[in-house]
Amino acid sequence: MTSAISRASGAVGAALADADRATLIHPTLPAHRTDRTLLVSGSGSRVRDADGREYLDASAVLGVTQVGHGRAELARAAAEQMTRLEYFHTWGTLSNDRAVELAARLSVLAPEPLRRVYFTSGGAEGNEIALRMARLYHHRRGERGRTAILSRRMAYHGIGYGSGGVSGFPVYHDGFGPSLPDVHFLTPPHPYRQEMFSGADVSDFCLAELRETIERIGPDRIAAMIGEPVMGGGGAVVPPADYWPRVAELLRSYGILLISDEVVTAYGRTGHWFAAEHFGVVPDIMVTAKGLTSGYIPHGAVLTTDEIAAEVTGDQGFPVGYTYTGHPTACAVALANLDIIEREGLPANAAAVGDHLGRRLAELAELPVVGEVRRLGLMLAVELTSDRASRRPLPNGTVEVADALREQAGIILRTNPYALVINPPLVFTREEADELADGLRSVLGRTGPDGHVR
Ligand SMILES: Cc1ncc(COP(=O)(O)O)c(C=O)c1O
Repeated sequence: MTSAISRASGAVGAALADADRATLIHPTLPAHRTDRTLLVSGSGSRVRDADGREYLDASAVLGVTQVGHGRAELARAAAEQMTRLEYFHTWGTLSNDRAVELAARLSVLAPEPLRRVYFTSGGAEGNEIALRMARLYHHRRGERGRTAILSRRMAYHGIGYGSGGVSGFPVYHDGFGPSLPDVHFLTPPHPYRQEMFSGADVSDFCLAELRETIERIGPDRIAAMIGEPVMGGGGAVVPPADYWPRVAELLRSYGILLISDEVVTAYGRTGHWFAAEHFGVVPDIMVTAKGLTSGYIPHGAVLTTDEIAAEVTGDQGFPVGYTYTGHPTACAVALANLDIIEREGLPANAAAVGDHLGRRLAELAELPVVGEVRRLGLMLAVELTSDRASRRPLPNGTVEVADALREQAGIILRTNPYALVINPPLVFTREEADELADGLRSVLGRTGPDGHVR
């Protein structure tokens, strides 16, 4: 296997890699992988490693960096705030100007009637809050039996015990002991995976299953359904247009809350500020993070309605808070980040460059290992297969292809076991989209059905 370190002659890169191997625990890194790619700087859609090699960041890190790397404006916003009031909490009656300013801005930006805001430091934290809000809402209204949560297989909601408990990949459950009880997993609306639907229409199948599940568990036992509008970790799984409107209507008829996990989709990624606008469905609780600060500082916001906020605060108050909730420096960076997204029209750029990139990637569909290309805005996936007729995944997964893209084409992107997941910064240009498409063609054109890149 080629590796950044075997290539690296630089003493700095090699020394950092040694220290990395000796100290850092990386997510998802098997022990046999000793190579490292050590990134040290970035600008726009590009990052550079310790040996000076440049890469195209086709993943906006993890679907986060909407405004691109190296924006000094955000560093100045953080420095200015840190020298004034770096941090205070928002527990009880204490508040701060930046948290108030950001909450007011989000309450205008978000679709009606999501007017109330709870700040977190990330996506999983946001989903913990959303799950607690949903259960507490019913509890305080006297419907104490409503504790069950509906989710979907292939969902990713983070790795807290609550958010991980509603995530629909076995890897977040196996070996960790009991996770959140009373969670029920439904079929994801994944049109490519026709075998899941026994020949039925995807939405009809999912809706029938949802209704049957609700009736089986008992509507008065169910607090909420949680879902990503477009599944990110699942591989940019875009549901049919009628799926969310029909799900929302059915849930409402049973008094079940809808939690929309917009941790990846919010703040422009799908070509709208929020994916809710794309699907025409406003949830009861919306969880956002990532793009709120473009990752320059960890932050997140949970948005909900006046009615739910009133119920979960009430005379007893909302009993749960994070140390960093309403962190003024994070809020200041978020405000400056939203300024850039607005000023530079990044949701519209995501739609336009996404159209172009989508057209270029559609050309890859002629390659034998490409099962499907799908996308919404700048959220895309290339599903890889060893056999297009049966849609069988590559036997050794997608990591070798991602490695080859990085080492041979200078492209960094994320993968899941079946697909290359592409979420570029929203400042991505048509030229960068072409470079990405050319790099993908060059590597996928040399990838065999055995998953090896020649
Ligand atoms: C849809 C979704 N929800 C939640 C999370 C978890 O966010 P975090 O890693 O900030 O906790 C992620 C992370 O990728 C995500 O994609």
